[in-house]
Amino acid sequence: MYQVNHIGVLTSGGDAPGMNAAIRAVVRKSIFHGLQVAGIKRGYLGLLKKEFVNYSLGSVADIIHRGGTILHTARCEEFKTEEGQRTAVKNLQEEGIDALVVIGGEGSMRGAFALSKYGVPVVGIPATIDNDLVGTEFSIGFDTAVNNVVDAINKIRDTATSHERVFIIEVMGRKTGQIALYAGLAGGAESILLPEIDLDMDEVIFKLERGMNRGKLHSIIIVAEGAASAIEVGEEIRKRTGLETRITILGHLQRGGTPTALDRMLASRMGAKAVELLLQGANRKMVGIAAGELLALDLEDVLSREKVLDRSIWELAAVLAI
Ligand code: ADP
Ligand code: F6P
Repeated sequence: MYQVNHIGVLTSGGDAPGMNAAIRAVVRKSIFHGLQVAGIKRGYLGLLKKEFVNYSLGSVADIIHRGGTILHTARCEEFKTEEGQRTAVKNLQEEGIDALVVIGGEGSMRGAFALSKYGVPVVGIPATIDNDLVGTEFSIGFDTAVNNVVDAINKIRDTATSHERVFIIEVMGRKTGQIALYAGLAGGAESILLPEIDLDMDEVIFKLERGMNRGKLHSIIIVAEGAASAIEVGEEIRKRTGLETRITILGHLQRGGTPTALDRMLASRMGAKAVELLLQGANRKMVGIAAGELLALDLEDVLSREKVLDRSIWELAAVLAI
């Protein structure tokens, strides 16, 4: 057990819409309980450079609706070294910060775990559009990213129908296909290509031709970046079918924009929960959510497993696209 008086909060890795709402929740909940709270700029990089800012209630005013992160984010190779981690611990001690909230994705959670080994109490908050962290059904930013992709699919449908074309849309997700899966079902895609499921081009082409034969005016194929290259998929379809194809790589627009209400809810609840956990003396935890309930997950366990994709959603998308 430890006594927490001064909490530090940082955002790290790829930004995710809702990170600001999570920062706001950590800051306001801490101050509500009489704690001091410091924002650490630029993730672990700022921790090494002592970029600490004392936060007040007003520091997080008017940010709940903004994408990105007011703390900025960074990727920091130096922090992966033992020397870097020792410097980070020393900087936290010199600043009088006795516990840390890390808001970020898988890599950021690995960094949090590394710090905890030096005796720093840490609680992680999953915030990544990739939704690739084990134990939590959703991470902050995922819902907004999926909605961004679905918005794009809706627009592409208009032009795809007009020209009777096949569109191949590549989405983010790193090694996982969560964004592709959810956006593919919600966007009514003909095929969804995921890293977790072996690519079968014969099947993709069979579905395309079946759809065209029954009078479909366009086809939408969603490709997760970790599964294949949309350009190569488009080229193969064109060669094998003679159909006219167009490629859209959505890129970073998926990660921007105002967070959805669902992401703001998740971020507000998770931010407050992280502070509660630290007040209770918890360490090496990551906040999660399952069936609407907040969870305190064991960080080591989270990092030792790979998230399993819900194959039934993919199968349903295939049934509904006949
Ligand atoms: P994300 O958190 O979005 O997955 P990254 O994988 O880029 O993003 O990780 C963000 C940062 O977390 C890295 O730049 C590095 O500073 C830190 N980090 C990642 N992996 C480790 C690790 N194994 N040990 C310590 N720190 C790590
Ligand atoms: O982890 C979030 C993510 O957006 C991935 O989906 C993507 O592969 C990667 O970050 C892109 O990273 P960068 O911002 O460095 O281009």
